[in-house]
Amino acid sequence: LAVHVLNGPNLNLLGTREPAIYGSETLGDIEQHLGAKARDAGIELVFRQSNHEGDLVDWIHQAGSAGAGIILNAGAYTHTSVALRDAIVGAQASVIEVHLSNVHAREHFRHRSLIAPVAKGVILGFGPLSYELALYALIATSRQNL
Ligand code: DQA
Repeated sequence: LAVHVLNGPNLNLLGTREPAIYGSETLGDIEQHLGAKARDAGIELVFRQSNHEGDLVDWIHQAGSAGAGIILNAGAYTHTSVALRDAIVGAQASVIEVHLSNVHAREHFRHRSLIAPVAKGVILGFGPLSYELALYALIATSRQNL
């Protein structure tokens, strides 16, 4: 099983960005931690971040055609991007949407996700643990061929 972890805009700022909401771990910390869990499970992990919507579209296509599962934190694009949603459907990609924060406890404009209806599931509000839980969900569902 290969898993591509795709991170959207501003997630490169983790560690210094609004630490009261997003915590003090950097994206590099999350990558290291998740990488160790993936190695233990014998999973090939690709970890990426971009501030550009088109990069995320391209990476969704790539993961889809490689048959890799996707853990997607699209950041603010979650709430706005028809292009990302269409990419997931078009590439027949298997996506778990994740967020560090509990977006439903925050501003109203974060309550709507354009990704969620085309994702296998959504995990949010657990900080970096959201990524780890998503990894376990992908492993479990790929075993069941869901
Ligand atoms: C986020 C939540 C989004 O609303 C926000 O725009 C982000 C981060 C999260 O992981 O909590 O950039 O996706």
